[in-house]
Amino acid sequence: MKTLKPIFDAIETSAHRIREAITNEDLCYSQECNATGDMQLKLDIQSDLIIAEEFSKITAIKEIASEEKEESETLHEEGRYCIAYDPLDGSSLIDVDLSVGTIYGIYDREFQPQNMIAAVYVVHGPRLEMVTAYKGGIRHYIFRHGRFMEQETVSLGDKGKLNAPGGTQQYWPQHHKKLIDSLFAEGYRLRYSGGMVPDLHQILLKGGGLFSYPGTEDKPNGKLRKLFEVYPFAYVYETAGGEAIDDKGRRLLDTRCDDPHETTPCFFGSKYEISKVK
Ligand code: F6P
Repeated sequence: MKTLKPIFDAIETSAHRIREAITNEDLCYSQECNATGDMQLKLDIQSDLIIAEEFSKITAIKEIASEEKEESETLHEEGRYCIAYDPLDGSSLIDVDLSVGTIYGIYDREFQPQNMIAAVYVVHGPRLEMVTAYKGGIRHYIFRHGRFMEQETVSLGDKGKLNAPGGTQQYWPQHHKKLIDSLFAEGYRLRYSGGMVPDLHQILLKGGGLFSYPGTEDKPNGKLRKLFEVYPFAYVYETAGGEAIDDKGRRLLDTRCDDPHETTPCFFGSKYEISKVK
């Protein structure tokens, strides 16, 4: 397999360009909705264009799929890698100045989790950070003094302290409410910003906990998209020593994705919390 270096470089360049855009552009909504029906900010569209432009320069990339677009796009027929990305996850948090992020899943030839070979996310918070999961290792970078500097490696402990429960409580199934309450009764602390990237980043960096987004009365298949959000974080969490499952207790990376915008209930955490979910 060829090195993914040019792809990681393009992700880094995109991170800087998106950071620029977040800092300088206005936050108005466009007149468009994305493929999942969310209103698009101009910044969502701009971030998507930036990434597509950077990836189009790399001949090893065969196909890209963006959360902002209905269909995937072939870039280079002779390429090998397929990349699915969410350009600006949680973008509605920008107007209150909370952290947002970009998520990438990199696949060998086909968008199925069994073909995933790397996952990357970028956190646009007070600092610019990046985490990569590749070849069995997690790398954590912080942008300082003009470059991404690698930090000490991160891993999930067997048991954490944080609880990040997504979705509208009113619509949670009873068994889910019981699970979440039982974690709080054990002393877990609530940490939920409503941005998947910072919420999962926090649990990862602070050694463990549970992030959950169940199937709910209003969203029986959950809200989070397999290709753009769930699989990349499942890959990161497993590489870091944690687990990621759906509401049937199946390993998310063993499931299939039949539509780029398919969603799934999902649970990410360290071993102890995932055993409680099961
Ligand atoms: O998919 C977008 C997103 O903003 C995620 O980043 C986040 O985890 C989730 O939605 C929050 O959803 P809710 O507000 O329903 O908990």
